[in-house]
Amino acid sequence: ARCIGRNQERTLAIIKPDAIRNLGDIVSTIYENGFTIARMRMIKLSQNEIMYFYGEHKAKDFFPRLVEFMISGPIVAIELVGSDAINRWRSIIGPTDSQKAKEQGSHLLRARFGTDGTRNALHGSDSATSAQREISFFFGSKYGTNTACYNDTTCC
Ligand code: PPS
Repeated sequence: ARCIGRNQERTLAIIKPDAIRNLGDIVSTIYENGFTIARMRMIKLSQNEIMYFYGEHKAKDFFPRLVEFMISGPIVAIELVGSDAINRWRSIIGPTDSQKAKEQGSHLLRARFGTDGTRNALHGSDSATSAQREISFFFGSKYGTNTACYNDTTCC
């Protein structure tokens, strides 16, 4: 999983505590949509780790709710690889608020497995910069750049 093809991109998905029981269906959906799973890890993060991970939102009114929810149980971090992975994964999960997702389409993952604006089942990186940072957070930075290095032995 060290190298990705020219048209491939990496993103970070998280299965949140409320959707852990749906891990199987979510992994099936990932493959049905043509993604590859490069790395995957189940972990229960500490309050400090979650606060660091969501640091850019620390001034938002929902921040305490978000932190409390994300430490309420184990999560699964998944490094996805695919074409247009960042935007495509976000469109497969749907809008932040699961109630809005239910209005937009019952196939959306947040519609299927989420409840509201807090318990929304899944995360997806919002940009290449975020994806890089978030993948490094869970998996370290040794592998997993968004640099295409298809068949390049100096890179692979
Ligand atoms: S913002 O303000 O546009 O940046 O917010 P948004 O991108 O929608 O959400 C950023 C992350 O905060 C989570 N969030 C919430 N958590 C708990 N309660 C409420 N009300 C809430 N609203 C937003 C949201 O799920 C995003 O986390 P991720 O992990 O990316 O889904």
